[in-house]
Amino acid sequence: MTDRNKSRPRPTARRSIAESYGSILEKGYGRRSVLKGFVAGAGLVAIGGGLAPRSAAASPTAGFPELTRMRDRADHWPEGYARQILLRWGDPLFADAPEFDIKTLNGAAAARQFGYNNDFTVYLPLGEGAEASAHGLMIVSHEYASPWLMFPGMDIETYREAMTEDQIRAAMAATGLSIFEVRRDQDGWRVVTDSKFNRRVHLSTPIAISGPAAGDDRLKTKADPTGKLVLGTISNCNGGVTPWGTILSGEEGGMDVFAGDYTTLANQELVERQGWDEDENDEYAASRVEPRLRYEDEPNEWMRFDWVMEVDPFDPEAAPVKRTALGRFTHEGAQCCVAPDGRVVVFMGDDDDFEYLYRFVTRDPWNPTDRAANRDLLDNGTLSVARFDADGSVTWLPLIAGEGPLTAEAGFASQTEVVLNTRVAADLTGATPMDCPEGFIVHPATGRIYVAMTEGEDRLPAGEGDEREQVNAANPRAPNPHGHILELAPPGEDGQRDAAADTFAWDVFVLCGDPQNPEDGAMFHPGTSENGWFTDPDNLAVDPEGRLWVATDGPPPVGADALFVVDTVGETRGLSKLFYVPPVGSECCSPAFTPDGTSLFISVQHPGELRLEDDEDAEAYDEQGTTWPDFAKGGQARPSLVVLTRTDAGKIGV
Ligand code: FEO
Ligand code: CA
Ligand code: CA
Ligand code: CA
Repeated sequence: MTDRNKSRPRPTARRSIAESYGSILEKGYGRRSVLKGFVAGAGLVAIGGGLAPRSAAASPTAGFPELTRMRDRADHWPEGYARQILLRWGDPLFADAPEFDIKTLNGAAAARQFGYNNDFTVYLPLGEGAEASAHGLMIVSHEYASPWLMFPGMDIETYREAMTEDQIRAAMAATGLSIFEVRRDQDGWRVVTDSKFNRRVHLSTPIAISGPAAGDDRLKTKADPTGKLVLGTISNCNGGVTPWGTILSGEEGGMDVFAGDYTTLANQELVERQGWDEDENDEYAASRVEPRLRYEDEPNEWMRFDWVMEVDPFDPEAAPVKRTALGRFTHEGAQCCVAPDGRVVVFMGDDDDFEYLYRFVTRDPWNPTDRAANRDLLDNGTLSVARFDADGSVTWLPLIAGEGPLTAEAGFASQTEVVLNTRVAADLTGATPMDCPEGFIVHPATGRIYVAMTEGEDRLPAGEGDEREQVNAANPRAPNPHGHILELAPPGEDGQRDAAADTFAWDVFVLCGDPQNPEDGAMFHPGTSENGWFTDPDNLAVDPEGRLWVATDGPPPVGADALFVVDTVGETRGLSKLFYVPPVGSECCSPAFTPDGTSLFISVQHPGELRLEDDEDAEAYDEQGTTWPDFAKGGQARPSLVVLTRTDAGKIGV
């Protein structure tokens, strides 16, 4: 799904949070940290119980002056820091690219410029030593376009008819990925526009399809009778980096782009299970220029989206590949780590209400000495789905055709069926339905894994609705409008944990909301200030100091979406501080650090999507809540990549 619906302020149905806590305790769902947080507010207890409760006076290790919670047209960062706009939507990525000009913008120009609504953000060093943090390759995704905020005169009711063909092509080309070289000198960071690495991937880029679904009849189209080559990627949300330096990009909600009557399709039930929403289709009016994006014209095209795509940023000639072995759902990201035996483990969230956490483990170990040997590693392996139990264990249930409930009679005669109907397969296994799982991050030092559940507004108390919607051990609040973060611990000592093991331990890391509001039932370290708590956690990152950075998507009752830093270990574990506030309507996605921790890149996505005065959706060009970062008269907000550094050149947040 796109996130417009999520960034909208929601009337919070809080009636039964306290009740649901009562039932958590009664039913013995009360795992250690839930109990501690709820009963005593005494801080958090680590998995393994090694940490004692701590006092509210504990001081944060993050040594910057905390911001004040706010909502504003401009963005805000701490004193002692500098903020640079590195790229705005429409800025040239190539030496021969045109400058941004909304009056003449077309598909050809947009395909040579930085895209719209940047989300996933990666910095890969190109230099060595100190140079590694001053010279790199960046990969940034552009999740979706909002034509009514991009083009003057548009509004949400009429833009589909009002857009010119050039504007439609420009919106299509403004999504996908940007790949570009960057350098830092005395004036700050700059894009190397004549780099051999610079590249755009968008809705017209040829992309290979591999794995169990490649070549299946249901992936064949008039333009591609092989079922192995698709034009384009869409709804590129978050992602991950493989150990061999390729990028994984999650396609999250490709159906937004498709138009027409899906009830003409043979597999319309699958369309519904995949998350079709009548309010969120034909987003860019793209079917006016690309008939393949209309269900009636090309009934199989939509099956070729909502996969994980692998791209090699170091080889601009290599076609990206959609890796179908990783399953089909609304992919948020694809975070990788390596198991002790060398197999690669990919963690993935399916970002929708009551959907699941998935894991893929490669069949073969990766080869650190021969990069090319890893080229098709992600085509073979085991996809599984998580079941959380109240005893503090999480079990990865394999999704293998012919095993367990995935019989031929149940519709799973081959692995192709499993990857094409992943959610249905997962339903049969008894996996735990989660509250919109988004960010995943593997802590590089400890091997513990953090995962963000953004929110579960529709979560019901035990005994109400169907079982799938009821509270469970890992999603204990009904409703859960503010989300939570879980910590998973694979077996083994810190630094040697086996992320490919069948069973991990799990615990609650934070329960989001206002700790001072009993209705929220929130749980942070008690030293967290009135500015430091957050709601709706989305993207997660770990900095070189081992702290967790949390970017939110869903403004809290007071203030706006923002970026927070949370300690993960020691006396201040669970203590959160507010670090950066982006402009109204935006979320600041995917914090990414240079290896030395002195530069922090952040994608400011969908600025202006809400109105400043009342935080409601901006439904017309003239309603956007900000025209950040240029504040030009009559101009529009431009999603941008920002870099934060310290004026004394020190490490961020230390
Ligand atoms: Fe694209 Fe789930 O945020
Ligand atoms: Ca988002
Ligand atoms: Ca997200
Ligand atoms: Ca989100």
